[in-house]
Amino acid sequence: MMSHSEKSDTLVFFVNGRKVIEKNADPEVNLLFYLRKKLRLTGTKYGCGGGGCGACTVMISRYDSSSKKIRHYSATACLIPICSLYGAAVTTVEGIGSTKTRIHPVQERIAKGHGTQCGFCTPGMVMSIYTLLRNHLQPSTEQLIETLGGNLCRCTGYRPIVESGKSFSTETSCCQMKGSGKCCLDQEENESENKNDVCTKLYKEEEFLPLDPTQELIFPPELMRMAEEPIQKTLVFQGERVTWISPATLTDLLELKLQYPKAPLVMGNTFVGLNMKFKGVCYPVIISPSRILELQVVMIDAKKGLTIGAGCSLAQVKEILTEMISEFPEEKTQTYQALLKQLRTLAGQQIRNMASLGGHIISRMARSDLNPVLCVGNCILNLASKEGIQQIPLNDHFLAGSPDANLTSEQVLVSVFIPLSRKWEFVSAFRQAQRQQNSLAIVNSGMRVHFKDGTNIIMDLNILYGGIGSTTVSANKSCQQLIGRAWNEEMLDEACRLVLDELTIPGSASGGMVEYRRTLMISFFFKFYLEVLQELNIRDHRYPDIPKKFQSVLEDFPLTIPHGIQTYECIDSHQPLQDPVGRPVMHQSGIKHATGEAMFCDDMPAIDEELFLAVVTSTRPHAKIISIDVSEALALPGVVDIITSQDVPAENGDEEERLYAEDEVICVGQIVCTVAADSYFHAKQAAKKVNIEYEDVEPVILTIKDAIKHKSFIGSEKKLEQGDIKEAFQTVDQIIQGEVHMGGQEHFYMETQSVLVIPKVEDKEMEIYVSSQDAALVQEKVASALGVSKNRIMCHMRRAGGAFGGKMTKPALLGAVAAVAANKTGHPIRFILERGDDMLITGGRHPLLGKYRIGFMNNGKIKAADIEYYINGGCTPDESEMVIEYALLKLENAYKIPNLRIQGRACKTNLPSNTAFRGFGFPQGSFVTESWITAVAAKCNLSPEKVRELNMYKTVDKTIHKQEFDPKNLIRCWDECMEKSSYYSRKEAIELFNQQNYWKKRGIAIIPMKFSVGYPKTYYHQAAALVHIYTDGSVLITHGGTELGQGLNTKMIQVASHELKIPMSDVYLSEMNTAAVPNTVSTAGSVGADVNGKAVQIACQTLMKRLEPIISKNPNGTWKEWANEAFTQSISLSATGYFRGYKANMDWVKGEGDVYPYFVYGAACSEVEVDCLTGAHKNIRTDIVMDACFSINPAIDIGQIEGSFTQGVGLYTMEELKYSPGGVLYSRGPDDYKIPSVTDISEELNVSLLTSTKNPVAIYSSKGLGESGMFLGSSVFFAIVDAVTAARKERGLTQAFMMNSPATPELIRMICLDKFTDLIPQDDPTSYKPWSISVA
Ligand SMILES: Cc1cc2nc3c(=O)[nH]c(=O)nc-3n(C[C@H](O)[C@H](O)[C@H](O)COP(=O)(O)OP(=O)(O)OC[C@H]3O[C@@H](n4cnc5c(N)ncnc54)[C@H](O)[C@@H]3O)c2cc1C
Ligand code: FES
Ligand code: FES
Repeated sequence: MMSHSEKSDTLVFFVNGRKVIEKNADPEVNLLFYLRKKLRLTGTKYGCGGGGCGACTVMISRYDSSSKKIRHYSATACLIPICSLYGAAVTTVEGIGSTKTRIHPVQERIAKGHGTQCGFCTPGMVMSIYTLLRNHLQPSTEQLIETLGGNLCRCTGYRPIVESGKSFSTETSCCQMKGSGKCCLDQEENESENKNDVCTKLYKEEEFLPLDPTQELIFPPELMRMAEEPIQKTLVFQGERVTWISPATLTDLLELKLQYPKAPLVMGNTFVGLNMKFKGVCYPVIISPSRILELQVVMIDAKKGLTIGAGCSLAQVKEILTEMISEFPEEKTQTYQALLKQLRTLAGQQIRNMASLGGHIISRMARSDLNPVLCVGNCILNLASKEGIQQIPLNDHFLAGSPDANLTSEQVLVSVFIPLSRKWEFVSAFRQAQRQQNSLAIVNSGMRVHFKDGTNIIMDLNILYGGIGSTTVSANKSCQQLIGRAWNEEMLDEACRLVLDELTIPGSASGGMVEYRRTLMISFFFKFYLEVLQELNIRDHRYPDIPKKFQSVLEDFPLTIPHGIQTYECIDSHQPLQDPVGRPVMHQSGIKHATGEAMFCDDMPAIDEELFLAVVTSTRPHAKIISIDVSEALALPGVVDIITSQDVPAENGDEEERLYAEDEVICVGQIVCTVAADSYFHAKQAAKKVNIEYEDVEPVILTIKDAIKHKSFIGSEKKLEQGDIKEAFQTVDQIIQGEVHMGGQEHFYMETQSVLVIPKVEDKEMEIYVSSQDAALVQEKVASALGVSKNRIMCHMRRAGGAFGGKMTKPALLGAVAAVAANKTGHPIRFILERGDDMLITGGRHPLLGKYRIGFMNNGKIKAADIEYYINGGCTPDESEMVIEYALLKLENAYKIPNLRIQGRACKTNLPSNTAFRGFGFPQGSFVTESWITAVAAKCNLSPEKVRELNMYKTVDKTIHKQEFDPKNLIRCWDECMEKSSYYSRKEAIELFNQQNYWKKRGIAIIPMKFSVGYPKTYYHQAAALVHIYTDGSVLITHGGTELGQGLNTKMIQVASHELKIPMSDVYLSEMNTAAVPNTVSTAGSVGADVNGKAVQIACQTLMKRLEPIISKNPNGTWKEWANEAFTQSISLSATGYFRGYKANMDWVKGEGDVYPYFVYGAACSEVEVDCLTGAHKNIRTDIVMDACFSINPAIDIGQIEGSFTQGVGLYTMEELKYSPGGVLYSRGPDDYKIPSVTDISEELNVSLLTSTKNPVAIYSSKGLGESGMFLGSSVFFAIVDAVTAARKERGLTQAFMMNSPATPELIRMICLDKFTDLIPQDDPTSYKPWSISVA
């Protein structure tokens, strides 16, 4: 056998069919970086860097010489060290198709099916689906669910992405109308309106290219040869700091382990990689055992069990276990079934493909899903070292890291033996996470009981939990005490008590949710108790079955993906075919999104001499800066300069918001200085070495409560009042009062904040490429920081990978920070925030505290409301004053409250400054309103929809700010939503379900919406456009809006095409830039298409007017001929269009104004099912009816509704920002902050746009729909409240309750009080410092 002394340093792999030979492979370089920066394949995107978002998904293919099969699997490039790719073929989105060659059917379908909005997640989605198809030509829905679970999309709401994937499947997409045998897609059955007026098709499936597997890239034959004749040399790759050693044989591996006892063995790198990346751990030597065949074994002993190689991936383990379960009787595969249950939701597909069983076991994460099960299943670890082989049990001592039960530093885990279970042995697994899939468990568990043969007497019992302490923990003592007991209620009670005594979680425990975690421990045990009881009954009827009412709680919620129908008004059949207005036209960049050709800011090629910027941010919430020592950082390799406030040539921001902190810091995450270096890696390394000395300053204000106490506010108090509150309260039957808290929200745009600044040699000019909603603001801030006039600063904005309000103000600050660095160093600066920095620095939606006092009659009629709002604005004003104003102006939502007083304040705290976010205060403000409406209904013993209906505006009326409006469409939306959702019949069915089920409850809610678009100022609505016609007839349009994924540019091309009467293909839109269209306003407030559309329309009409004489003289001429003729007649073929803006104003002194140009109405009905034992919930169905009037592009508008609704579902039920008591944001990436993933969307999601209605105010009678759908996500929240109410009622809890938002599993579980929550020890809140605080 070869010794590892024979070495090779040549890394060979293939990318998209091309051979890559790397002589100097650096082990610290990951595939994502290599693809993007070295190979210039920028289709693969950076979204998080930690395997959690799927934006960087690629396909890896390897040839297995023993099975002679090629294995294709999806993987996240950000966690793949290039050194691990020896012998692999990598396929990226560019490798499967492009507009230059041919597009792949997956790319085509996702684009044409409207599965792309901003397009940043699209390459990752494409690669996940592509890989699935390489393995299964006609995938099942289940396979599609598995495949997409690891890919996040923040824009679309997933439904269209899923549909494009489903189009390859032979399974029907029909819902079968829940067993009725009818089809939801059949309009005759489902549509109450004249079917000729209503369209349901958003694309033409018949146009899709067929999938032709013969067209795919073949696996490189050279790699096959390499696999057949593997080189026996040890591969050694030497990087700047790390050496990578990959031995060819087990002997060499064991020798290396002896030589480098501290070196980790890297398999999937999903654990080690994260340590290196996020915890700054550096391993000088890494050993890669991926070529060792012994680690890949799979052996089945039909009598004893299964041995799986430590190197098998979790996906392979899943396959093997599935096979075992199908082949062996159920009683023998108890452990396998439990493992499989955990594997269904463990991480996403990409991580399961990469992570190894050995790596999983050895890394012993406290929240490992598999280790508790492997442990209770009595697994054995087969180890090898130079000393020989050894077997150790995978027991609780091993998991606790006890030295005497551990591997020695020379040992390697070769394989794992998982025994078959025995008769009268039962094994089960549980987990509860913030999100159903791809989310580490909050608590998980493996449980096993072994009975004396044929009895219910416990012979052996094991209970292990993850998420309780710093390792997996065992309730060993409790289990011992229960041996000999019969499996009955007394045992259950005793077990709960024992477990809670044995496993204590301190009040201050890391991760928080202490009482919830305690509750989960015993709730899981109760589930296990029921499961086993049920099994015992099946095997022997002497044992009682569980109550029928309890049975449903044993079924986990299924993983489902959304389906549904979308309906909209068909266009007039006489409309010319070429006129695209009103048609569901694909996003202008859809295909380029799908092929990876669409360029985002960081996709721009390297600029000569460019430097990379890394930030150094404050670690204190409020402190004086005593000193900044940069000497150590400056001395590091590659560092060019360090930039502080001293380097700002002119204005360092303003008094309220500094670009670089000056003498003091006012939040954790404030930028103190930046490091410019030749690579981001070097800049980041150096940033860690900047030493800042602080002196803490009092007070530190973090919460709304703190701010009120210290009277720390932004701006003045805002107030609105109507009627006579005092008198009204005296005449009402009942009064309720209370408060509701609503947490903030992170934008989580998939493309992080990005800016590229290029200083010009001449005249202080600067060229800026930025991902922003407001390029003019970037221009302004940069000009003011540099002390140059705006005419020297050119800002370009082609597209943003999502924005949602988060790219309104912050890019200006970041742009100026980068421009100062560019000015100082004289180099181009690339400044791309890492996800963690982005989340830390930029703030998000304002948390809100709503206090209410409501007076109402016994019939539910609300007479008086006295409301106070406080929002947590963070440390600078940003948009906080406007957000509180909007929250107040829009608070009444759809209701007429005759006597209403509302007042609000924005609080100034020492948190990162919160900013604009889709809906701008409305989703928070109206949420509080719906909460007290629900509370009023409960008090009156009425159903919430009755109280909503009773108090809704019915006729032409005035809002609280005295703006007249007609609620006709509000009522229509409500009525249609009632009808389409079959509200009352489903409510009855839900009541029946709730009577029949004790631990699972269903709930339904219907929520109306009156949403006002735009701003309370006319000049905020102004817009300009520039349209050129060239002499070849082609048209170039530029306008002042920014393309953020919302399809603005597509709509603008539709407008130009309609006005100029030319095909869309003749119209081109490249980018927005401040040189072409100056003095723009930010693209926000749902009016981007309204106002820019008007500007484009005006410009086009001006041009048409000029062309009119030429056209009428030669009516049969072509567009090109007319353009040419105009040129020869010296008629200008270029025109600007300028729209002054909608009339809007607000007078806060008088409390009145025509604040908004118009209202969008809507209604949503959602149904959920709640698991009262765990707090999990499943979104079953949502029906949305929206008043879009004449939709310029129904596909885009429905996309906005579905996408914003999904973001709303995240806001109200899942997304939770966690802050330490010291003001440090913990949740800084997809691991700790959960946005909805594909299985979180309602299984059935139907959207219909109201027909036969016009909006005379806006272009083509349309309406702006960018934000409104967000609030409709609250229908899911209130459906949860409905379900929880049913649960509480059944448990005799009749007192009113108020649920804060988001309705996380923790909140739901802890409000469904029962005998288990009664057992939970409650800590005295003054006796410990909690891990996290609520800032709302
Ligand atoms: C985005 C994401 C989501 C995740 N979600 C979940 C989840 O929901 N549930 C869950 O349980 N886990 C989850 N994980 C964790 C994941 O399961 C583990 O990171 C993974 O199983 C580790 O395997 P690996 O092969 O990547 O380990 P590596 O990172 O390659 O190695 C991990 C450790 O194991 C050691 N090691 C590896 N192989 C051997 C061997 N043969 N012998 C001795 N030592 C060895 C290494 O020295 C190293 O210390 C998630 C991880 C990520 C990145
Ligand atoms: S960037 Fe790789 S998974 Fe997010
Ligand atoms: S389209 Fe999916 S993140 Fe924007």
